[in-house]
Amino acid sequence: MKTANPKAYRNYFRQRTANQWHKIEAEAGIPGAIRPFLAGNWKMNMIPRSGVALTARILDICRDIKDVDIGLAPPFTGLSTLADYIKPDFLRTEYGLGRNVFLLAQDTFFESKGAFTGEISPEMLAAIGVDRVIIGHSDRRANLGKYYGFGSSVARRLTGGFLSSQLKKLKEKDGADAQVIAALEHLSAKGNQDILAGLARFLEEELRERAGESDEAIQLKIRAALAQGLQVILCCGENREARDANETFNLLDRQLRMALEVVSPRAVSEMIIAYEPVWAIGEGAKPATLEQISEVHDFIRNLIMDLYGEQIASSIRILYGGNVKPDNIVDIMNIAGVDGALVGGASLKANDFASIIRFGLNT
Ligand code: PGA
Repeated sequence: MKTANPKAYRNYFRQRTANQWHKIEAEAGIPGAIRPFLAGNWKMNMIPRSGVALTARILDICRDIKDVDIGLAPPFTGLSTLADYIKPDFLRTEYGLGRNVFLLAQDTFFESKGAFTGEISPEMLAAIGVDRVIIGHSDRRANLGKYYGFGSSVARRLTGGFLSSQLKKLKEKDGADAQVIAALEHLSAKGNQDILAGLARFLEEELRERAGESDEAIQLKIRAALAQGLQVILCCGENREARDANETFNLLDRQLRMALEVVSPRAVSEMIIAYEPVWAIGEGAKPATLEQISEVHDFIRNLIMDLYGEQIASSIRILYGGNVKPDNIVDIMNIAGVDGALVGGASLKANDFASIIRFGLNT
């Protein structure tokens, strides 16, 4: 696929430097003045009490910061306690902060209630004061198969005996798919046991590596969250394999088009997109280079322009995530198309996350 002209949106996108970001409040009212969004994704860390202590330390260091939006994403168990703690009134009296601290959930399910043991609905999140929900994080898109063992259950069932019994049932049904019947007949035939065993092993491996939330599930989650008045941080990003195969833009195009299919222009203008290359996330990984980040952010903004027009493309916030730390945040925020960051590991340390929020002011 051809990349749209990456420079196209720049005419109407305000160029800034990291130091200028912190003057945005003075410029309020200027069209195109975009508030940076710095979000901490705690992943599966922090009991409620430690989350509040961490937040208190961060906000204390950032008392003077009013022109940056701060997002905190505790695990589900910490949301309620943190909601009580960061209520606007509390922030205003204790820290002099306005409504610039937002409570984020790390995920949501898409049904509103019912027999979905372990899942949490958008209604439940909205009811306790969650502002935004992260949807499509790569921990969920790509890694679930590894942890839940998707694949092994498929592999265990893919035996000649199992296929023959399924075949029998299918043949009794009206309107069964003829192609499926032919495939099952072929595979369950006596001479094909080796092929079947090989196929089972292949599927097991593939599903372990790849199974996770699908683009379809992500679309359903977005629709459900928006219907409850929750804003969304939509994550997208390529894995190492896609990058090495030069498939980055194709993959992002697919992820984003599918996700945004259900999002109206009005809803998208409040949405935040986070570009998170999977290979750049987590301990031991290296962040993407500034060129890579810039190129992808341009690509995403151009895609938004194609789908929703200039005005939305120039104002939608696009974050970068993947090993953002105090020592690289200024360079990252200096990239013209970057409007903030989604921070994992460094958001668990008060001093680190506070200096990420204060980017450009510390140096
Ligand atoms: P990291 O995680 O900052 O620890 O690399 C980023 C993320 O997964 O959002």
